[in-house]
Amino acid sequence: MAPAAAAQVPGAISSVSHAGPAPDETDTACSVWWATARPRPELVALLDAAERQRAERLRRTVDRDRYVTAHALVRILLSARTGIPPQALRFETTCHRCGGGHGKPRLDSDPGDAQVAFNLAHAGNRVVVALTGGLHVGIDVDVVRNLDREDLAMLSGEILSTAERVSYAELPSCERSRALAVWWTRKEAVLKATGDGLAIPPAHISVTDPGSAPAVTAWDPGRTWPSPMAAVTCLRDLSPGAPYVASVAVLGTDALTVTEQAGDALLGDPWEPPLRHSPGPIRLLTGTPHTLRSW
Ligand SMILES: CC(C)(COP(=O)(O)OP(=O)(O)OC[C@H]1O[C@@H](n2cnc3c(N)ncnc32)[C@H](O)[C@@H]1OP(=O)(O)O)[C@@H](O)C(=O)NCCC(=O)NCCS
Ligand SMILES: [Zn+2]
Repeated sequence: MAPAAAAQVPGAISSVSHAGPAPDETDTACSVWWATARPRPELVALLDAAERQRAERLRRTVDRDRYVTAHALVRILLSARTGIPPQALRFETTCHRCGGGHGKPRLDSDPGDAQVAFNLAHAGNRVVVALTGGLHVGIDVDVVRNLDREDLAMLSGEILSTAERVSYAELPSCERSRALAVWWTRKEAVLKATGDGLAIPPAHISVTDPGSAPAVTAWDPGRTWPSPMAAVTCLRDLSPGAPYVASVAVLGTDALTVTEQAGDALLGDPWEPPLRHSPGPIRLLTGTPHTLRSW
């Protein structure tokens, strides 16, 4: 594993450059890094011109903070694995469906021996990045909102497959908003892992009910899936803390160890546990891995 890269931003990221060996994403390991979106203007220096322009186009401060936090965190984490300075990393976004430039971002810099794949998501003030040792990964986080009857009816129709609608109909109405959010994040994580995103309607895949251990139960028969790897998908729920729900999916393995960790210190913030409802200690780059979930 390449040593962590020296960071160039004053007051930020210095913990990475002294972090020692970076965490090891082996074939069956996925590390998930959480951060809180807040103003961090010094991190803009880590972004490339396109990212800076996109950040500037975001009018709402909250959207800009989330974007800058997420893209800086990805760069810092990938830098720690590849040895390439965060601001020198290049990304590629060719869509595997149509060849356009709006596809799933992947690393375009040569990572040397450091095989790495990543995906990011942001919602509310939560930012999250998932890394693997090369397996396709997708992650999603969403805010649970109390939906009225009309929205519940519309969204359940859009999100759920026929089999899932049967389970949904049996739920007490007070549980339906959260259940739909869980179904949604599980499916979006899978569709982000394949790189299709919502170009494939979420109702075309089935996952287990929110009260059960997460897993993909069926792909819409008769369709050709873009990645044969999607035939074996590992799906896990994460612990973002209320009112959020989150899931991560990794293709091509049926045995996965997921660790959830605090990323704020990597962004130059004083350390504080961002996951108030986290089930256990959180590992920093220098710490010992704490496995939250492993099956
Ligand atoms: C990918 C997608 C699901 C993201 O949904 P979202 O809820 O708005 O955003 P999230 O917070 O979950 O994730 C955003 C991140 O996912 C990543 N991403 C973008 N496209 C992706 C894709 N196709 N697959 C996986 N990840 C993707 C990016 O890093 C993005 O971060 P950024 O917006 O800061 O650059 C949604 O934008 C989508 O479905 N895109 C494809 C739409 C489509 O049909 N395209 C036409 C194909 S021909
Ligand atoms: Zn496309």
